Amino acid sequence: MIASLIDRLIRGQRWLNPFGAFVQNVVGAIYKPLGRPGQALKSFLHGTWWGHALHPVIVNVPLGAWTAALVADLVASTGRLSPGVGDFCVLIGVLASYGALVTGYTDFHETAGRERKVGAAHGLIMTTAILLYTASWLLRWRAGSAAHELAVVLAVIGYLLVISGAYLGGDLVFRLGTMVNRNAFTTGPKEFVPIGRCQDFAEGQMERVEAGGMPVLIVRRGDRLYAISNTCAHAGGPLDEGALDGTIVTCPWHASQFDITTGRVMRGPATFDQPSLTLREHGDVVEAKLDGLRHA
Ligand code: FES
Repeated sequence: MIASLIDRLIRGQRWLNPFGAFVQNVVGAIYKPLGRPGQALKSFLHGTWWGHALHPVIVNVPLGAWTAALVADLVASTGRLSPGVGDFCVLIGVLASYGALVTGYTDFHETAGRERKVGAAHGLIMTTAILLYTASWLLRWRAGSAAHELAVVLAVIGYLLVISGAYLGGDLVFRLGTMVNRNAFTTGPKEFVPIGRCQDFAEGQMERVEAGGMPVLIVRRGDRLYAISNTCAHAGGPLDEGALDGTIVTCPWHASQFDITTGRVMRGPATFDQPSLTLREHGDVVEAKLDGLRHA
């Protein structure tokens, strides 16, 4: 019931969509002028380099630190703990939160529709919380008990916002599937199945075929054929409608890049590899088999 109430509340906020689009333009305007280094930085912040989204990992630090700060502030108010403990926890959280902020807005850049709306609300709430915690730490840094009391109040308000924002972050992933590996539930042929004839696959052409119900991208390079899942791991884009440069295919939706010889992700926003298939030629028939069931 609470979930549907929140859902309705977000749906009713029409301004969130144009606001989200504006934020996405700002994020794009930061990376784009940087050219290739900007793309590399963006991929780094998505988490492409280690095969996992970076944002959900980093957010654990401020969440943990600020929870500890809340408890420490409470105990310090009874005189049984130094206020410095809460101050330190707030500082750790603030430092890590800026990493969460940057990675979060980077992931947000490629969202659309409902994802963008919920993402905009999530980002707005979390940014406000981070600013409150930053102000809280600056007040703690100043001497004076009145300033410290105000700092604790700001931290408590910030914590309530963080919990609300974290709820929406969970909604983005678990309900809307943002940054979830689109090949996580891929099933494909465990044994070799025919997918076409040798002459069907011309040099340098991208062909989409079905192998055991799985959409597969086939590319011939020289005397070899390569096959990977045709469904982009990032948000499900059809790779066969993208661009091929050498052995690198670029997704048509958000420009993630994959090496067709291995399925390896080379550029974000995708962070997961594509499942690859083993091919063999049987006479003039090409057969394919998935390399492991949950390959990606
Ligand atoms: S669907 Fe987003 S990069 Fe492929």
